Amino acid sequence: MDYYQYTRGWFGKWARFYNFIALPLTGIREKVADLIDAEDKIKILDVCTGTGTQAFAFARRNYEVVGLDLTREMLKIAEKKNKFENVQFVVADATKIPFEPDYFDFACISFGLHDMPHEVRRHVLDEMRRVSKKIIVVDYHIPKNRLHRWLHVSFTSLYESEYYRDFAKRDIEELLREHGFHIVKEAYGLIDFVKIFLCERESFGGKG
Ligand SMILES: C[S@@+](CC[C@H](N)C(=O)[O-])C[C@H]1O[C@@H](n2cnc3c(N)ncnc32)[C@H](O)[C@@H]1O
Repeated sequence: MDYYQYTRGWFGKWARFYNFIALPLTGIREKVADLIDAEDKIKILDVCTGTGTQAFAFARRNYEVVGLDLTREMLKIAEKKNKFENVQFVVADATKIPFEPDYFDFACISFGLHDMPHEVRRHVLDEMRRVSKKIIVVDYHIPKNRLHRWLHVSFTSLYESEYYRDFAKRDIEELLREHGFHIVKEAYGLIDFVKIFLCERESFGGKG
């Protein structure tokens, strides 16, 4: 099945339960928002925003936020929960972000990169790099130790989409460097089940 059809079908089916499933991630949302130490009214893009929980954490800090996602059912839940005037949601494909270069101050993707094929992941990172100088990536931390990695992958594959196994084989830091990002800060969440990267676009070298 085609990736777009699969993704819309998968998240369309899970949308109603997603906020409940993602409850353990609640503390991570504020931790991610804490990484941005900025004046009010900076612009933030939340790529693959889903039901918008990370977008709302940014909105509470008075930033101007756009949450973008492919799946209408996920965004419907986000719209229903939205109490903020400074957040808007758009249905769009993250490989074709409908904004001008450098439109945003930050682009964030949380738990999105593991839900796409590798070539799509690359396009998404290129697009984030085009629309923002700084990005935040939040996703599973895949342990380096073989036994820990096996346990992590065996457990997480039980509930994740079909693309997670490919994500688990990749080196996310290398991927970020290949796409012209320099990692400025790293943090962990849920002990070390989740890793957070704050990155800046390289002016020279890397991609582009
Ligand atoms: C696991 S959810 C993450 C939601 C949210 N960011 C969070 O942290 O809870 C992954 C989301 O990525 C979206 N997605 C996957 N591929 C996408 C693409 N190419 N463009 C936009 N959204 C995409 C899915 O529709 C889904 O809502």
